[in-house]
Amino acid sequence: MRRNRKKRFKSHQGRTLITDLNPSSPIAEQYRTIRTNISFSAVDDKINTLMVTSSNPSEGKSLTTANLAIVFAQQGSSVLLVDADLRKPTLHYTLQKSNTLGLSNYLVGAQTIESIVHNTSIDNLHAVTSGPIPPNPSELLGSKSMGNFIEESKHIYDVIIFDTPPVLAVTDSQILSSLCDGTILVTRNKQTEIDEARRAKKLLAQTNGRLLGTILNDAERKKENYYYYYGN
Ligand SMILES: Nc1ncnc2c1ncn2[C@@H]1O[C@H](COP(=O)(O)OP(=O)(O)OP(=O)(O)O)[C@@H](O)[C@H]1O
Ligand SMILES: [Mg+2]
Repeated sequence: MRRNRKKRFKSHQGRTLITDLNPSSPIAEQYRTIRTNISFSAVDDKINTLMVTSSNPSEGKSLTTANLAIVFAQQGSSVLLVDADLRKPTLHYTLQKSNTLGLSNYLVGAQTIESIVHNTSIDNLHAVTSGPIPPNPSELLGSKSMGNFIEESKHIYDVIIFDTPPVLAVTDSQILSSLCDGTILVTRNKQTEIDEARRAKKLLAQTNGRLLGTILNDAERKKENYYYYYGN
């Protein structure tokens, strides 16, 4: 049986990725709805590069990014999931991969894309971890090298999804937003202040990033449904 041959993702932090673990769950269904909405949000321009951010820490950016990458991969797209949070990276824990080589190594010109990409146990899903934490994340993400990374990846993968730091804390996600086709803003139920979400939206707009929509993470469970909402 297909499911038995795969190693399920569960990190030492206890991070299970629900879309992989239980694809028929209502939460996985919500992620697929988000995937559909992303695909339909750009009628003329295809969304190849997508980033996920939020106003503040711990609102669910990394979890959302990983689950979105999985549902795109499950659809048959070739997906590259990239940890562009070079300050508090978590993808290597989530996927239980080595982080000796990653995005930061590529950005300083020390590695090729092929040498930093990890295959995963999920069909069509490939990953790039952050690499060693650099002293100058914003500078690296705003460098020509980052533009090259995106251009090169687009030739290899159908969808590239970036996990990023919070918008109100540092400029990294603003910088990346201007390089990506679309940005998703995660808000967390009972945590994100509306004013902060508005400020984040404003900051993203300043860099000509294209905000596709907002996800409400961790919403109250109602009749096993409506965990997540996606919309403008
Ligand atoms: N919907 C949810 N239900 C339960 N736990 C959640 C949910 N969303 C996030 N969490 C938990 O909250 C914590 C923060 O989530 P996550 O790491 O995805 O946030 P983040 O925005 O990437 O944080 P950071 O700003 O530190 O990068 C994690 O322990 C995660 O497992
Ligand atoms: Mg994170």
